[in-house]
Amino acid sequence: MRDKILEYLKKTDSHISGEELSQRLKISRAGIWKHIQELRESGYEIVAVPHLGYRLFSIPDKLLPQEIACGLKTKSFGCKIRYYEMVSSTMDIAMQAGLEGALEGELILAEGQSRGRGRLGRSWNSPKYKGIYMSLILRPKLLPQETPCLTLLSAVSVCEAIKEDVGLDTNIKWPNDIVIHEKKVGGILTELNAEMDIVHFVVIGIGINVNNDKSQLPLHATSLKEEKKEVVNRVTLLRKILEKLEINYDIFKKHGFHPITEKWRSFSTTLGSRIKVTCQKEHIEGEAIDIDIDGGLIIRKDSGFIEKVMAGDVVKVR
Ligand code: BTN
Repeated sequence: MRDKILEYLKKTDSHISGEELSQRLKISRAGIWKHIQELRESGYEIVAVPHLGYRLFSIPDKLLPQEIACGLKTKSFGCKIRYYEMVSSTMDIAMQAGLEGALEGELILAEGQSRGRGRLGRSWNSPKYKGIYMSLILRPKLLPQETPCLTLLSAVSVCEAIKEDVGLDTNIKWPNDIVIHEKKVGGILTELNAEMDIVHFVVIGIGINVNNDKSQLPLHATSLKEEKKEVVNRVTLLRKILEKLEINYDIFKKHGFHPITEKWRSFSTTLGSRIKVTCQKEHIEGEAIDIDIDGGLIIRKDSGFIEKVMAGDVVKVR
């Protein structure tokens, strides 16, 4: 009912009376008033003018599920959203939801995280209302060792979404850093619930620095606002990310990982560079020449030896 009232308020350029809403929606005027109060409590500014009615003045700068659903062009991704103001990590909630049988496409969303986590045991800075912190549940028919490709697929989807919705060019630093001019603006964390030969579900965690000011960012990081020099709408960007994720996931299911690898290469800032990868205290230095079909990074060492790494931290070297 709240969503219907909101829909009418958004459609109306001027005011809409309580009487009209009550007739259209077939509930009492007191019922309408109760829902208007609830909308106000979640941040919508609705003015009430005697003899004229209600008017929507402003929409809150929040990732409210009803705002995301409005105009979302996906079949299942993000169709069910669990929304939180503050959580420890959306990954914790999503892993639990997966265990409880959450369906593919279910989204966990938070305005802030107290213990956001990144790859390799790092933390993810998650100030409230500034970024996008989301975890998406997938149930792919893959072997556990094939799931890294979903990380790359997600990184490609985020880059495509940022380009289309915000108009900024981004790159991917292997395996999952979204960067602008080599500064990190986003990252992907993939976690699994699996046995040796079966994946029960995968959680794709995506974090993006959207409207963070410089002072709120770690060194070597940036935000979309810093780069664009204007505030970025988190709702439309999130919608676009869900759409791109679903499109690329469908491509992957129909045609395998090859077309995604092609897209990944076009965004890569790693391939063709001389790099050093640190993986469990081991270093491998050489030229990053390609990625494999399973998402691994292929490196040509100075000895001419070709080596593949599946995880690690990359730095460019001269
Ligand atoms: C990385 O680059 O190391 C990955 C960062 C992933 C951060 C996101 S924010 C939403 C989700 N919840 C988390 O705790 N982490 C991921």
